[in-house]
Amino acid sequence: MKDLKKTYHIKNCEIKALSGINLEVEDKSFVTVVGRSGSGKTTLLRVLCGLEEKSGGEISFIEGNSSKAGTKISMVFQEPRLMHWLTVGENMAFSLRKEDPDIIKHKVDRHLDLLGLKQFKDAFPRQISGGMAQRVALGRTLCYDPEVILMDEPLSALDAFTRQVLQKEIVKLFINQQKTVIFVTHDVDEAVLLGQKAVILEDGIIKKQIPIELPYPRDQAQDKFFKYRQEILKTIMGD
Ligand SMILES: Nc1ncnc2c1ncn2[C@@H]1O[C@H](COP(=O)(O)OP(=O)(O)O)[C@@H](O)[C@H]1O
Ligand SMILES: [Mg+2]
Repeated sequence: MKDLKKTYHIKNCEIKALSGINLEVEDKSFVTVVGRSGSGKTTLLRVLCGLEEKSGGEISFIEGNSSKAGTKISMVFQEPRLMHWLTVGENMAFSLRKEDPDIIKHKVDRHLDLLGLKQFKDAFPRQISGGMAQRVALGRTLCYDPEVILMDEPLSALDAFTRQVLQKEIVKLFINQQKTVIFVTHDVDEAVLLGQKAVILEDGIIKKQIPIELPYPRDQAQDKFFKYRQEILKTIMGD
């Protein structure tokens, strides 16, 4: 992203949601974006996946030395956004509907297994818990097999216990699946737990980028973890 800008207009009012974002995201890396409510996190993801048109600047996907068109991007939202009239399996298969039925079955079954959802394949969204529904949303994204996954606070509506379990699973999935992930959160611990780089956003600009040099899985009780956490907090809150 080079000098990426997004301005919203409400009546005569101009809202600069992103005012010049310069950010490089390495292929197959996990970047967390953290910041206060209203700092522009959601806007950044929406502009990246084309749900919102940028007002200026550049977004390029680069392979080798040249830019590349047609990168497959997928977004996971805070709410699962499942189709209530489709089963868990059918929701996961949604992006695959043009493929061969055997391939669909294989992909869906593999991801149901991976996410511990096997016995819920034929359940409807209303019959499963919030944590499971968010797993299905993640499974739907993984079945689509994008190169870049954008996640907008996907765990923040879950209870603390379910959130911890899913954080661990997301780390595992990331290690095994080799995807580029941009994960938005307002939870500082989550930013340190998941990201190889934490990007701190404030009023539509990047205040700081902090590479997190800790091996996975990370231990929140570690001194180094605590130091990263404090550094992020200090950047957001001031001294
Ligand atoms: N569709 C929109 N129209 C007008 N203003 C918007 C719209 N979406 C977001 N904003 C404004 O842009 C700023 C950034 O919002 P947002 O990206 O949602 O922040 P965050 O996700 O960090 O809470 C806020 O001031 C918000 O009010
Ligand atoms: Mg948001």
